[in-house]
Amino acid sequence: MSPRKIIFDTDPGIDDAMAILFAHLHPDLDLVGITTVLGNGSIDTTTRNALYIRDRFAIDTPVLRGAASALLVPDEEPPTFVHGDDGLGNVKIDHTDSDPAPGSAAQFIVDTVMASPGEVSIVAVGRLTNLAIALDIEPRIADAVAEVIVMGGALGSNEYTGNVTPVAEANIYGDPHAADMVFTAAWPTVLVGLDVTMTCVMRRPQMQRIRGQSGDAGEFLWDITRFYENYYRERRGVLGFPVHDSCAVIYAVAPELFGTVTGALRVVAEGISRGQTILVPAERTFPPSAWDDQPHSIGCIGVDSDGVLALYEDILRRGA
Ligand code: BDR
Ligand code: CA
Repeated sequence: MSPRKIIFDTDPGIDDAMAILFAHLHPDLDLVGITTVLGNGSIDTTTRNALYIRDRFAIDTPVLRGAASALLVPDEEPPTFVHGDDGLGNVKIDHTDSDPAPGSAAQFIVDTVMASPGEVSIVAVGRLTNLAIALDIEPRIADAVAEVIVMGGALGSNEYTGNVTPVAEANIYGDPHAADMVFTAAWPTVLVGLDVTMTCVMRRPQMQRIRGQSGDAGEFLWDITRFYENYYRERRGVLGFPVHDSCAVIYAVAPELFGTVTGALRVVAEGISRGQTILVPAERTFPPSAWDDQPHSIGCIGVDSDGVLALYEDILRRGA
């Protein structure tokens, strides 16, 4: 079987960088493009980081610059306390002078999906702005895409209901209008949220093994994750760090590692619950509501965390 084509929409970002390398090295995935969005840094920062990772690891794929702001909510300062001032853990990096490919991320998504109907999946691990703009440019991508897998949100199936507010996860909070457009469009969507990503915590001994056995990728990941590990230990009391964005890529190749629920998924766009993701399971009935007659999404509510982390390590080791 030929590898599955994916567009990786991302805001690198330390855990984004981890996920890019996994997607690049997995033999069943064909990374046909990396599209950037603001989030863990400004659009200049996330695009520069994507280009750096692409060039350093000789990943044969274009990088397209995406949205610099959310659709409607105002810009906020990037979370430099999580990902560093440079978005990659404040390690010394000699950036290349590569430029992104011409055109916008959203137009690239439209062109790539429409060129190969049914063949291209999108894995989105930042704000969903580029995807919403792509839907606006060409609504027929909803029929033509194979699958849309999103790292974001939380369904309240365990204690991790939010990370930027008590009910909101950063990617969804950062552009809630775009997220609601994405989950109410008629394309197959999967939400890989904090319910599962917060239990996929890579601890130091495993990261040390990856450093030792995965060549330059291992060294790079070790370096950039020091800052991230420190943030989770000091500010969140977590020993290790969640591999949020890798979970979404891993869903694409190993969905059997996840427990799921299916139903209409809406995003709260305004007010104190801004960014909350609420999925109504298909079998539940309520009086008329905003979830009626909406397309169904798959939401991840359980995960074999050891399986996810072992697969990550294995693919990185085999790629060295
Ligand atoms: C998500 O937000 C970003 O900081 C991470 O890269 C991840 O995509 C986790 O809430
Ligand atoms: Ca991200």
